[in-house]
Amino acid sequence: MEVVILSGKEEAGVVAADAIEALFRAKPQAVLGLATGSSPLPIYNELARRHDEEGLSFSQAQGFALDEYVGLPAGHPESYREVLRREFTEKVDIDPARVHAPNGAAEDVVAACAAYEAAIKAAGGVDLQILGIGTDGHIGFNEPISSLASRTRIKTLTEQTRQDNARFFDSIDEVPHHVVTQGLGTIMEARHVVLLATGAQKAAAVQALIEGPVAAVCPASVLQLHPHVTVLIDEASAAELKLADYYRHTWANKPHWQGL
Ligand code: GLP
Repeated sequence: MEVVILSGKEEAGVVAADAIEALFRAKPQAVLGLATGSSPLPIYNELARRHDEEGLSFSQAQGFALDEYVGLPAGHPESYREVLRREFTEKVDIDPARVHAPNGAAEDVVAACAAYEAAIKAAGGVDLQILGIGTDGHIGFNEPISSLASRTRIKTLTEQTRQDNARFFDSIDEVPHHVVTQGLGTIMEARHVVLLATGAQKAAAVQALIEGPVAAVCPASVLQLHPHVTVLIDEASAAELKLADYYRHTWANKPHWQGL
């Protein structure tokens, strides 16, 4: 795991965009794993800028969303399919037909989840997965005590997560209780995972992710078992890290040829 402490979310967005740009220059048909929430927005904004100003193209790309609410009507502005369209995919040249999201409105949820797993596999797997982290350590919507081997399935949100996400809705009563999310086992198959976290409210989750035990009570800690994870954080979210100076030293002295 590589931990990079940066000046803020804008710089984190630029560093993540560098990795994504390098991937697409080398492999134009790469598969991106797309996260929602506010953390990835600086990445999407920077990728859109590079598309407009520098010709970065996603015309051969595929994208797979991490998760989706269950029970929101199709086209609801806070459904993650709509959020991804608004915040990223309509700002670049990716083919909308090649952007996939779990079906939170399926009558047969189990079959829809299996179909989603099959679609990721048929695309050749995710090359680079963008992630945020919840204040309770969730990634995707894998809440505490999610199986570390889990696949795409329905989950029940914690009240903490519903409260955290209520800012996107008119009231907490409108936040669904259920979601469909890629499992931790699914996320672990991405070839490169890039996780962004900023702000003091993420400090405890970031510490547990990086320096805590691998334990389902902090689902993100499973990433310690992944061979290629980059964690991009700011000073506020790094506040509880015991080895912060070591991470700063490592980044400052990183060989230029290495990349992320
Ligand atoms: C939601 C999403 C996660 C995201 C988390 C944190 O629960 N399902 O993918 O990481 O929110 O959101 P934010 O980045 O807004 O703090």
